[in-house]
Amino acid sequence: MKLKYKSIKSIYIGVALATLVIGFASCGKKDANSPGVEFAPDMYRSPSVEVYGTSVFNGDTIYSQQFLPVKGTIARGYMPYVYPNTSEGYEQAGLYLKNPIALNEKVMLEAEALYGKYCLHCHGVSGAGDGKVSDKLPGAPPAYNGALKNLSEGKIFHSITYGKGLMGNHANILSQDERWKLVHYVQRLQGPKEAAPTDSAKVATTITDVKKEETKSTH
Ligand code: HEC
Repeated sequence: MKLKYKSIKSIYIGVALATLVIGFASCGKKDANSPGVEFAPDMYRSPSVEVYGTSVFNGDTIYSQQFLPVKGTIARGYMPYVYPNTSEGYEQAGLYLKNPIALNEKVMLEAEALYGKYCLHCHGVSGAGDGKVSDKLPGAPPAYNGALKNLSEGKIFHSITYGKGLMGNHANILSQDERWKLVHYVQRLQGPKEAAPTDSAKVATTITDVKKEETKSTH
């Protein structure tokens, strides 16, 4: 009995000593920022492979670039926008971009709802630039049926996409389809297009010139 008691006692002492040694060993680092001894480093340093990154796992380097999408693929529902956010890009969008969404009653209702959520507070119900927030802006947005009356669909789309002046970009919050639907709505608020006076003057001169030419050639 006595012997047994003694051996249990020595086990206790042994455990206590071992704890002390380990304790001192883990606290004894000179570097104050050191975490001390790491008993299970895997628990601290996740061996998980980072997406599109390079990871070293058990000494092996894993290049997870292999998980990159195949070149040229585009995400479902996403269409790349080719015109850059420059004045040239703006002009080109104005020349070449055409609305791919056919106009109908349903589209107009969707566009009206989008306009109410994202545009009305600055541009106002009728697009006159008198939304509630416009008072807080250093300059109110120009009226759709005023200064912006003849703005082409491509330019409207481009400006909604990238933003313009005090207007932020909407590419992240509105899909391309939603932006095109809004173009229809803005066009409705623009009202019928008016030929700019200078343009009509030019056209008139050209037509008269043509007529003059015709008269000349027939006589
Ligand atoms: C924070 C207020 C604000 C919001 C929100 C806003 N706009 Fe504007 N918008 C402006 C201002 C200010 C301008 C004038 C920008 C300039 O010419 O400097 C403008 C200009 C425009 C133009 C003319 C761009 C051009 O090429 O001249 C269009 C079109 C337009 N906004 C449409 C929209 C639509 C559609 C929405 C909603 C998706 C919207 N805006 C949301 C403030 C806003």
